[in-house]
Formats: sequence, C-alpha cells, structure tokens
Amino acid sequence: MKYIVAVIQPDRLDIVLRALEEKEIHLVTVTTVMGRGRQKGVAEVYRSHKEAGGLLRKVKLEIAVNEEYVKPTVEAITKGARTGEIGDGKIFILDLKECVRIRTGETGGPAIG
Ligand SMILES: Nc1ncnc2c1ncn2[C@@H]1O[C@H](COP(=O)(O)OP(=O)(O)OP(=O)(O)O)[C@@H](O)[C@H]1O
Ligand SMILES: [Mg+2]
Repeated sequence: MKYIVAVIQPDRLDIVLRALEEKEIHLVTVTTVMGRGRQKGVAEVYRSHKEAGGLLRKVKLEIAVNEEYVKPTVEAITKGARTGEIGDGKIFILDLKECVRIRTGETGGPAIG
C-alpha cells in the first residue's frame, strides 16, 4: 500500500479529480494549504495570490491506494495538473503500513477502497 500526497495548483483541482475518477479512483482527502517550491513563490506570483514568506495557496490531495493503483493515480494527477509552467506541483509517494476502516474493523488492502 502507498500513501500518495500531491500538491497542485488550486485551479487544477477539478480536472485532476476528473482524471482520477476516469481511473476509478474516488477516495481522496483534499486540503487547502500554503506552500513554496524552489522559486520560493517569487517567479510564480502571477499564478496565485502570494502570502507572507513567499507562500502561495495550493491544494493538497492525499490518496491511499493498493499497489496496482499507484501508477494510475500518479498518471492521473500528472495529466490533470501539468501545464508545463513552474509551480505545477509535486507528488510524494510514501509506504503505507496500515489502514483501518473504522466502521467494520477491516484492515490492509480491503480497507482502502
Ligand atoms: N521538497 C518539497 N517539500 C515539501 N513541499 C514541497 C517540496 N517541493 C514542492 N513542495 C510543495 O509543492 C508546491 C509546488 O511546488 P512546485 O511545483 O513549485 O515545485 P518546484 O520544485 O518549485 O518545481 P517547478 O520548478 O516546476 O516550479 C510547493 O508550493 C510546496 O507546497
Ligand atoms: Mg516552483
């Protein structure tokens, strides 16, 4: 199991969610966050309102998946979020040790989706 964390431009959220749905990936946590990449918010300001510390408003997606969904998830996020401009975002892929569906007590792969 993997935990996929992606930070993207807020205006790409809809298209990323649609790209994920096309691959049957529906379960997701979405958070509005602040962040800065290697331009430290400087050259990218035209894309987004800049806050203190060069921080820009971004959207974070978190998706827990079984192994066979790792590639489709990364591809869908990349396809939906890429414009070719700086600040398109980044995807982090973490090993996920466990997942528990609270209602049923299921664990592991069956609990994910
Ligand atoms: N190494 C990192 N650690 C934590 N968060 C990061 C890291 N790199 C990027 N982020 C987050 O992702 C957001 C988007 O990053 P961004 O796409 O600007 O990356 P970049 O490395 O600057 O690439 P680019 O040159 O394409 O802009 C940042 O605002 C930040 O929230
Ligand atoms: Mg950047």
